Amino acid sequence: MGSFYITTPIYYVNAAPHMGHAYTTIAADVIARHHRQRGDDVFFLTGVDEHGEPVANAAEAQGMTPQALADLNSERFRALMPRLNASNDFFIRTTDPEHKAKVQEVLTRIKDNGFVYKDHYEGWYCPRCADFKSENEIEDSNRCPIHHIELTREQEENYFFKLSAFQERLEQLYADNPDFVGPRHRANEALAFIKGGLQDVSLSRAKLTWGVEVPWDTEHVFYVWFDALLNYYTALSYARPGEDLTEKFWPPQLHVIGKDILKFHAVFWPALLMAADLPVPERIYIHGYLLMDGEKMSKSLGNVLDPLVVIDRFGTDALRHYVLRDVTFGQDGSVSTEAFEQRYESELANGLGNLASRCIAMVRKYRDGAVPAVQPELREDFDGLAGEVAALIDRAELTPALELVWERVRRLNRYVEETAPWTLANDPANAERLDVVLATLVEGLRVVAVLLASVLPETTEKLLATLGAPDTAYAGATLTAGTVAQVQALAPLFPKDIPAAAPA
Ligand code: ME8
Ligand code: MG
Repeated sequence: MGSFYITTPIYYVNAAPHMGHAYTTIAADVIARHHRQRGDDVFFLTGVDEHGEPVANAAEAQGMTPQALADLNSERFRALMPRLNASNDFFIRTTDPEHKAKVQEVLTRIKDNGFVYKDHYEGWYCPRCADFKSENEIEDSNRCPIHHIELTREQEENYFFKLSAFQERLEQLYADNPDFVGPRHRANEALAFIKGGLQDVSLSRAKLTWGVEVPWDTEHVFYVWFDALLNYYTALSYARPGEDLTEKFWPPQLHVIGKDILKFHAVFWPALLMAADLPVPERIYIHGYLLMDGEKMSKSLGNVLDPLVVIDRFGTDALRHYVLRDVTFGQDGSVSTEAFEQRYESELANGLGNLASRCIAMVRKYRDGAVPAVQPELREDFDGLAGEVAALIDRAELTPALELVWERVRRLNRYVEETAPWTLANDPANAERLDVVLATLVEGLRVVAVLLASVLPETTEKLLATLGAPDTAYAGATLTAGTVAQVQALAPLFPKDIPAAAPA
């Protein structure tokens, strides 16, 4: 048992949240909840990135001040978190005065350490990514490979961060820590970028005013990415009023991000921390894109599935389940309303929902709700399971981890068919056998619920309450005799009469 600090990216407030943001938040939340179940002291951070061109330009286009747009959309992101059932311990906004002061402090230290100089910048820039693109990162006719918009040619006096000074130390970091970035192929991608030769990067912008002021030259604001990356560090100093959590939680155990921002996290970020004499994170896990119609789902491309609409129809747990089951975490994958409905029906309503209602109904019918205190069967299916699931989650392999548990849900449903308790119940001579079957089903259901508690917090809470066994401590995820004494009636966990989708 130790401390476990996990983060999501902080999301741009240029527009309202969409499914992509919900996705990363859900994945990180599952890992955070899982660690709490294991008894770790968890700090889970999410929040919003409010500065830079993505926000300034969007505000201008809507005739709003950047602050007004940031206030509006930050509130939407903040409100999304409880809808997702995200258990974040803090929600950071980069316009927080405490964040800004800390950014200035750290970047001044980096300058004092000799890693900042002033120079002339000229190159291609994507205002949506807020990214200075090198020649090998751009699409034909100077377009952004992510947003497909025309890149702008930027020319200005900037302060630069001496990224090139960290070439060797970064290569060493990757050599010494093969798990620093996962999955493996993303580590290779980052390392290839580093080995390709690191150029110094702009640390400030002179043309922009929407940002954190450079304290030694107030004509400049910091380039939004350095302000943004530092959120992971600054938040700990003021998340708890009157307390500084830095000592306790720094460095982070895990940053969860999407592949669009790999370069910033896997290359710039550790270099920045080294320049500030700070320990680097233990691990960065990079997931793929949710796609719609083969393109990255993105507000600026206009092809988004609204998480709030999905939650209204199917419930929060169904959304959490769907995105982690249907798309292998770490890879790209398509999402659609049709696939959603299918998985809801087959796995949630017919799989887990049906198993729970059948088991509980039978215990109530044949034993008045009293669970026989006998040893359960199916040891060979459950022994070692909790450890295997935890090991996969430790590698952020969430989809295979879940598959192990869903195999057991299917196993329990088969067990019902094989043992046919309704037949056993017809003959009092089979009473002992029926005791074992019912005890096995209830205990198997309880173990599955504990293992799924991080993914389906609402459903498993209801289910475990019905079993009178609300404890979700991970140590309890093994088959044990007598944990459940009495079951209560259970309303369908996943009703089938879900409302139809509103017309688009
Ligand atoms: O990049 N599929 O913010 P952002 C999967 N502020 N994940 C997606 C996604 C999709 N289609 N779309 C978005 C920024 N995401 C910066 C980050 S961090 C110090 C600063 C998720 O609003 C995914 O996690 O563009 C991606 O990395 C992130 O949202 C980008 O959010
Ligand atoms: Mg983006």
